[in-house]
Amino acid sequence: MKLNETARFSTLCIHAGQVPDPSTGAIITPIYQTSTYVQEGLGQHKGFEYGRTQNPTRMALEANIAAIESGVAAFAFASGMAAIDAILTRLESGDHLVVSDNTYGGTFRLFERVRRKFGLDFTYVDTSRIDDIEPAITSKTKYLFIETPTNPMLRITDLAAASDIAHRRGVRVVVDNTFASPYIQRPLELGADIVTHSTTKFLNGHSDSVGGVVVLKHQDDVDWIKFVQNAAGAILGPMDSWLVLRGTKTLTVRMERTNANALVLADHLAKHPRVNSVIYPGLKDHPHHALAKKQMRGFGGLITFDVGSLDAARNVLARFKLMSLAESLGGVETLISHPAVMTHASVPADRRGAIGITDGMIRISVGIEDIDDLKEDVDQALA
Ligand SMILES: Cc1ncc(COP(=O)(O)O)c(C=O)c1O
Repeated sequence: MKLNETARFSTLCIHAGQVPDPSTGAIITPIYQTSTYVQEGLGQHKGFEYGRTQNPTRMALEANIAAIESGVAAFAFASGMAAIDAILTRLESGDHLVVSDNTYGGTFRLFERVRRKFGLDFTYVDTSRIDDIEPAITSKTKYLFIETPTNPMLRITDLAAASDIAHRRGVRVVVDNTFASPYIQRPLELGADIVTHSTTKFLNGHSDSVGGVVVLKHQDDVDWIKFVQNAAGAILGPMDSWLVLRGTKTLTVRMERTNANALVLADHLAKHPRVNSVIYPGLKDHPHHALAKKQMRGFGGLITFDVGSLDAARNVLARFKLMSLAESLGGVETLISHPAVMTHASVPADRRGAIGITDGMIRISVGIEDIDDLKEDVDQALA
């Protein structure tokens, strides 16, 4: 198997970074479950010295994700949070970041409760309001850190416009692309400098691994993140690397089905008399629908809807049968969650209110089951 330079997205998902195993011809990259490699003599080895520094399964995954995100290199970490933390190690005490205000609660916690202690400073703005970005940039700003779509408000930031503003001020753009996946949008092609993912979500897609990845465009970032991956050591293990590598092979077909299911389900919810409001970028009344249509391939698998109160949400959540109440998203199975009590519990109540997260909100991560079964489950839960 030899990939053409012109290989397209779904072909890259299946083949990029992988060659038949040199010792057996196995078409699937083996799980190299080893901590070290025997050296032929002093200073003589095959490029593999120690499991934290190099692992063929992890390196195959990193090459695969670099290709599908249009980066020059990628590095895989033990979780999405470890990946984001590695990106922060590029900065120094006194540096400042402008951050999407509706970022994942765990990211907010890392920034405020861990990294602020080490002298980093953060300003949170609604980056979907493009005019609000530049006033937040100071002479100390090093990164503009964007999540789009956001969780659970599903706001969309114009990545090309935001990158133009940041670059004019000498600021690098980091995009957490977890919610979209590279099938839906590729931020590096739109101007961003660094992409990160929780591979736990759509990239792995099967809810059986926790991991993260950083994808890079500039050689200075590649050199540093490669160094930090080994120096700090929060690597993705071989078994998890193999699971994610298996997951990316089916990313295209999973995302096609996810997009299709979510659009139908959002429409179904919007017409339901027990639902107060639905947030989904694919609905025409979503404030960023036109931008989503331009920037994304499909509108993704996350839907947020409001049933009015915490009590109503509690009742509805208890009645779902097919959809499971669980944290996380992006698996083949549909999951439901309650942002205020679950994913965003670490965000103070007043900040949740300012962002628009209500106690009546329920988030669905739409899976790839039969859409009629999903609609029936929604109907019986809301009945
Ligand atoms: C957008 C986003 N980024 C990062 C993370 C953190 O990823 P992990 O749970 O793999 O550490 C999450 C987890 O839910 C997330 O939703």
